[in-house]
Amino acid sequence: MKIVVVGSGYVGLVAGTCFADIGHSVVCVDSDQKKLEKLRQGVMPIYEPGLDDLVARNHASGRLSFTDELGSALTGAHAAFIAVGTPPRATDGHADMKYVHAVAHAIAEKASGDLVVVNKSTVPVGTGDEVERILLSARRPFRFSVVSNPEFLREGVAIDDFMRPDRIVIGSESEWARKVVSGIYEVERLSEAAILHTSRRSAELIKYAANAFLAMKITFINEISDLCEAVGGDVRHVAHGLGLDSRIGSKFLNAGPGYGGSCFPKDTLAISKTARDHRVQLHTIETVIQVNDNRKRAMALRVLDACGGSVRGKTIAVLGLAFKAHTDDMRDSPAIPIIQALQDFGARVRAHDPEAMENAAKLLTNVTFCEDALDAATDSDAVVVLTEWPEFRDLDLGQLKAVMAEPLMIDLRNLMSEDAVLEAGFTYCCVGRNPAGPHGEKQLLAAE
Ligand code: UDX
Repeated sequence: MKIVVVGSGYVGLVAGTCFADIGHSVVCVDSDQKKLEKLRQGVMPIYEPGLDDLVARNHASGRLSFTDELGSALTGAHAAFIAVGTPPRATDGHADMKYVHAVAHAIAEKASGDLVVVNKSTVPVGTGDEVERILLSARRPFRFSVVSNPEFLREGVAIDDFMRPDRIVIGSESEWARKVVSGIYEVERLSEAAILHTSRRSAELIKYAANAFLAMKITFINEISDLCEAVGGDVRHVAHGLGLDSRIGSKFLNAGPGYGGSCFPKDTLAISKTARDHRVQLHTIETVIQVNDNRKRAMALRVLDACGGSVRGKTIAVLGLAFKAHTDDMRDSPAIPIIQALQDFGARVRAHDPEAMENAAKLLTNVTFCEDALDAATDSDAVVVLTEWPEFRDLDLGQLKAVMAEPLMIDLRNLMSEDAVLEAGFTYCCVGRNPAGPHGEKQLLAAE
């Protein structure tokens, strides 16, 4: 089939490339000329493992192309996917639909035949109806139908998530459109995924509800983690025990500095606002948002406590800036409020991240960005692990200790091997357990 994908950001680029890889002919449309030129040369606008090779392969085969000309791209197309951003509005934080609406107007103007328009962007419930209104109001002599087909991929594992999805949700109000979109996915490589057909509004809600639920799951384990510290438990064991209950499941139970990224913070806010607009209050989600926001700043206090009550004049080495590992994305990363709070408390911050330093430099001031972890740690009074990059786990701890002024490690991702860190002579603070505290398991074992 011929597919047009409008918007070459995270979702659009990954989806378009994967559609090409499963055999469709795909034209990616974007208004950013520089980005298009780079994509044609194989230079990715984002860091996503494996994406460059996949783009190069499909571009070379002719199945994937990049253009800023929507009209010519739409010639002969069966479906056009809208995959543009829905950033939070500056005024109230609700998802801003201006890019989605602009694309709908452009498609209405430029389409040259029957077309299924598919919303892949995460959009508030009812957006599909609005896009359809825009398309139909143009009174063109073609059939238009709008489908909601939310994308569930995670940054860092986006290609795998796209190629091996748990489910494919197709929300349509027309049999014709339903068949066109099912046909796009009904290829051998995706045949194991469950295809779920729903109404358009239900599909739009599934995406928001899924993200809100996952954000709630993380926030829940983060609070249990605080309780573990207070009463002498180990959150890793508690999470393991919880996850073995198949009704709960083991994923998304890693305690940490709070969730971030381009989706959870934005989508939890959007679903709670949509609910309020319809006189429904999502108490749990509103609380999740507040607890998660508070947690990020509370993490800076944790560093302060570990440093003996003050970081004034001290040098803190931050390892990891991205909101999670395997991405260069800094959007709503816990590192931002944590670093800003440490600076407010008078600390100097040196930081290293394998991929996110360029983006971090746009958001943070007075941070010394360092070539590697050892450079960041040099002469520091504490190392704070903020992102779970695997290479931090493999650091030579003897070398790390040798370059630091004080051997203190605060691991807010429970990434490091506790035994190795203690053996190397560090004071070690982590999340959801207190190895050296009065109830620490090591102490209990020693007492037995
Ligand atoms: C998320 C959804 O998972 C995905 O389905 C949706 O399409 C987009 O939003 P993403 O934002 O890429 O994907 O990252 P994800 O892996 O879900 O992590 C989100 C945040 O939660 C990160 O800050 C991560 O560190 C945090 N997290 C995740 C935890 O703190 N603990 C966990 O156990 C899992």
